Amino acid sequence: MSEALDRIREEAQEMVAAASDEAALEKVRIDYLGRKGPIAEALAEMPRLAPIERPLLGKAANEAKQAIAAAIEARQSELEQGRLANLAETEAIDITFPAAPLRRGHQHVLSQVRRELEVIFERLGYHVEEGPEIESDWYNFEALNLPKGHASRDVHDTFFFSEDVVLRTHTSPVQIRAMERLKTPPIYIVCPGRVYRKENLDATHLAGFMQLEGLAIDEGLTVGDLKGTLLYLVQSLFGPERKVRMRPHHFSYTEPSFEFDTLCGRCNGDGCRSCGHQGWLETGGCGMVHPQVLRNGGIDPERYTGFAWGFGIERMALLKYDVEDLRLFYENDLRFNEQF
Ligand code: DAH
Repeated sequence: MSEALDRIREEAQEMVAAASDEAALEKVRIDYLGRKGPIAEALAEMPRLAPIERPLLGKAANEAKQAIAAAIEARQSELEQGRLANLAETEAIDITFPAAPLRRGHQHVLSQVRRELEVIFERLGYHVEEGPEIESDWYNFEALNLPKGHASRDVHDTFFFSEDVVLRTHTSPVQIRAMERLKTPPIYIVCPGRVYRKENLDATHLAGFMQLEGLAIDEGLTVGDLKGTLLYLVQSLFGPERKVRMRPHHFSYTEPSFEFDTLCGRCNGDGCRSCGHQGWLETGGCGMVHPQVLRNGGIDPERYTGFAWGFGIERMALLKYDVEDLRLFYENDLRFNEQF
């Protein structure tokens, strides 16, 4: 019996030595040490042996098993060594190879668009002014010809701290602050910043968003200058084929007042789904600064005229990148953010 086991062991050891990879080695292990292997078979003979022979068989079988297992283990580490040596040869580190790039963050798309807008106007000689987000009733409303009880205050859906302190509903109060600070025209400023309105949130409305206000005050400014400025804005941001259209509107702080639209880039004015079949995309409000507003800011309306505009920065970003829902800008889903 033990001779048979010796033969099995030798045979297994030859097979182990011949195994050229780990799969082959595993096959040897299963073939010889597995439950259907020759050693298991030999042990199955045990009940048929004389009792005195049984321990001898058990011992011989164990020795054979251990010898084979040891051979397999030794071969395994041999194979491993060989693989590493091979790797070192074929895949040695090439220190001249560029490193994997580090994953870096970048500015949020709204910060990018806001900065892009600032730069567009800086090229025209405008500079950036800022004002407080918590604003007095005077700057947010009164100084802009919106006295208490005025009907168009209602469209603002204001968050109040107290009767006279509000979260600003637009960036227009910075017009007054800029006139007070800079005093003598020429004044050319843009004011980007956060504004707040009690809105129900949907794809086109947020309760906190950003606007960019513009104000130019100088001698002899006209609606023509306003329109040229808006055209320059729209073409800088969206491309030279875009046009601007102004429609009469009402704002208490401008006279005359307009809403301005951008020619739809999809259909070039023919009307399509993007522009709600209008051919034009609503972009913002604007007008010639009302003489009383100039006076409220300490500027002589007999000598100077001015124009102003305001629009939503999120809306501009939405138009520029064809985003379908304003809320995406604030969800901070990296799959969205990383596209810009
Ligand atoms: N303040 C207006 C708004 O929040 C936008 C606006 C319209 C600003 C006309 C202006 C302007 O400066 O002249 O909707």
